[in-house]
Amino acid sequence: MVRENHLSSADLIWPLFITSGTGVEEPIDSLPGVSRWSVDNIILQAKEAIALGITCLALFPNTQADKRTHDGAESANPDNLMCQAIRAIKSACGDDIGILTDVALDPYTRNGQDGLVDDDGYVLNDETVAALVDQALNQAQAGADIIAPSDMMDGRIGTIRKALEMNGYPNVQIMAYAAKYASAFYGPFRDAVGSSGILKGDKKTYQMDCANSDEALREVAMDIDEGADSVMVKPGMPYLDIVRRVHDEFCIPVYAYQVSGEYAMIEAAVAAGLADREAMVFESLMGFKRAGASGILTYHAQYVARLLEN
Ligand code: PBG
Repeated sequence: MVRENHLSSADLIWPLFITSGTGVEEPIDSLPGVSRWSVDNIILQAKEAIALGITCLALFPNTQADKRTHDGAESANPDNLMCQAIRAIKSACGDDIGILTDVALDPYTRNGQDGLVDDDGYVLNDETVAALVDQALNQAQAGADIIAPSDMMDGRIGTIRKALEMNGYPNVQIMAYAAKYASAFYGPFRDAVGSSGILKGDKKTYQMDCANSDEALREVAMDIDEGADSVMVKPGMPYLDIVRRVHDEFCIPVYAYQVSGEYAMIEAAVAAGLADREAMVFESLMGFKRAGASGILTYHAQYVARLLEN
């Protein structure tokens, strides 16, 4: 009766990884219990999500190695894995589930960086923003509901917002990865999208320093000003103070991403017999609600939604 916060399956956004082929389920070693699915199998996942009351999926492609190039052109191919998956889910499920698509170049380039790089490997902001606009329009054209730029380039939210308006997609939303930290917790994800082996250097020239929090508020303010409909804080558990500050400071939905390394950490503790999965997962997700998150991206979404059903 006196509980202040509640968790429901409608709070959960379920990240799913796409791979090529048909009938494929490819387990991901560094994310035990999570797989890459071919497009036909993604449809089945989407149907299960709907049955469980999950309202949104976040899609990430593992692009075939021979389609990764210096300029990441595959990101703008209307028939790339991401667009195939969006169209397949939309034609099978209509608007019964939302589709959130990641905008960044790392699944499409040869170096695993989120942007285009110069000869010294330095990420070029403005050239990258132009490529991100093409990628975002490509996803909107395929039927994405929410565009989620995760690249952290300056000025990309406003440029993408304008392009969506001018090209007939005024109702497509933008969830900005506004406060995204350069983090040690992304390792298993890079394995999942196939960029870990090829990533050179780090992402510290565009992702945030874990020592900063005022900077996160400035990033969020800029993205809201440029037209973001909602914002994200990422990773989740080490940054609950940022979720709380963003929630208190701005009247906009704020989402937390419980990232791959957080998921893997919980699963490793469970596998080692050190923790109870159900209790640990619920406590961690309730932490996000308590901090003020409107919703949570979590690889445990299906697991939690199944438990909530009973
Ligand atoms: C990259 C992107 C990353 C994640 C989501 N989008 C990784 C990175 O910035 O290197 C991480 C998600 C996770 O670890 O679960 N565009």
